Amino acid sequence: MKLGVVILAAGQGTRMMSSLPKVLHPLAEKPLLGHVIDAARESGAERIAVVYGHGGGQVPECFPEADLVWVEQAQRLGTGHAVEQALPAMAGMDRVLVLYGDVPLIGKETLAALLQAGQQSPLALLTVILNDPTGYGRIVRDEKLNIRCIVEQKDAAPEVLALREINTGIMLVDAARLEGWIGRLENNNAQGEFYLTDIVGMAVGEGVKVRSAQPKDAFEVMGVNDRVQLAELERYLQRLRAEALMRSGVTLRDPDRFDLRGTLTVGRDVELDVNVLIAGDVVLGDNVKVGANSVIRNSRIGDSVLIFENCVIDNSVIGDGCQIGPFARLRPNAELAAGVRIGNFVEIKKSQVDEGSKINHLSYIGDCTIGKAVNVGAGTITCNYDGANKFRTVIEDNAFIGSDTQLVAPVKVGAGATVGAGSTITKDVPPESLALSRARQIGRVGWKKPQKR
Ligand code: UD1
Ligand code: CA
Repeated sequence: MKLGVVILAAGQGTRMMSSLPKVLHPLAEKPLLGHVIDAARESGAERIAVVYGHGGGQVPECFPEADLVWVEQAQRLGTGHAVEQALPAMAGMDRVLVLYGDVPLIGKETLAALLQAGQQSPLALLTVILNDPTGYGRIVRDEKLNIRCIVEQKDAAPEVLALREINTGIMLVDAARLEGWIGRLENNNAQGEFYLTDIVGMAVGEGVKVRSAQPKDAFEVMGVNDRVQLAELERYLQRLRAEALMRSGVTLRDPDRFDLRGTLTVGRDVELDVNVLIAGDVVLGDNVKVGANSVIRNSRIGDSVLIFENCVIDNSVIGDGCQIGPFARLRPNAELAAGVRIGNFVEIKKSQVDEGSKINHLSYIGDCTIGKAVNVGAGTITCNYDGANKFRTVIEDNAFIGSDTQLVAPVKVGAGATVGAGSTITKDVPPESLALSRARQIGRVGWKKPQKR
């Protein structure tokens, strides 16, 4: 069975009040449509066509992947018309699964249930019973509870409006039958649109027993029409992710104050305090503890690393047993070997720091290679930029950099050398030597302060 997926994404999304097309609004840092495309791929689709709206050229640009077919719906004439535009792209498919670009959390198991229902019928619908069905197409069943048709809210008589089983819009249709049914759609209804939902009545008229499946959770079929709904889905998704992590052995001090916008791979006994944000691809080793208000993006953190409160770690690699923060910032390409300590108000960028070295207070280390067991004193600055080009600083094993030192790159401090506090180092420092460039202190005993005239 060859499965094709049509994703309807031509809606304008007026209620988002945005210049960004609705389906590009992010949920956990991924566009809504990206979630739907993932679901389509996971369902085993052979081909995926996305119907996007007039002027929505931005949408295809966001998804350069080769397995997507883009279909422009120049005029928004209804869901039936939208699917019709995608029919050429579905040539050769046996089944067509219709998904909505603004219904992002449709789950794998739910789609599997729909695919299952579709094995018994050329038409299977995903339906759900809602306490408040207002706005949705109602599923009308006969006395034997067989599906008879779908009636849209705006076309419904009071007794139909009272029905609480609704059409989620997600359906699975036999490809050949779909083409025939779509060709016969008319738009003589309250909205003057070609309703995809009218194929249900047609199928029943041809003696088809229409099947239905239900989602595992009602959130899976919730659409995003405004930013309030977007936020509701974000909280639901984050709760799911938090629960999955806790079940896999992660301690979350407060699952409602944790966000995962990407993928997190964890070792055993990881603890995350409140307001931790993980983004991109992050790996945390065994026994890692992350303090409150820390952000970790696209980074690999080794075993037993302690990240204290308020740290920002971006595209970095941290070795086993390091201690970071509080208030540290690791910028892209910070690479720390095992046992490194980075303290408060320290910024590290594009630098390698070898085993056991310490940079504990108020320093900027950029474009720098630091050896083993180096001590970098408070207020050390690598002057890596001359306004036009960047240069590297090298500090070899066991060197000691006194506080308030400026290292004017390119420059090298040899192994075991000591730089006295307050120095501006512009020349290489030989190994096992002392370099000191501060002005000599003078003292005048009995000096009189100036008096105000
Ligand atoms: C549709 C269903 C309704 C269902 C509801 C679920 C029809 C006629 N009605 O109603 O039974 O309960 O969804 O949310 O199908 N779209 C296009 N091109 C179009 C029209 C729509 O791409 O010309 C896309 C929209 O972007 C959206 C989806 O199709 O993703 C549904 O469109 P929408 O206008 O929200 O349909 P409803 O009237 O809510
Ligand atoms: Ca809708």
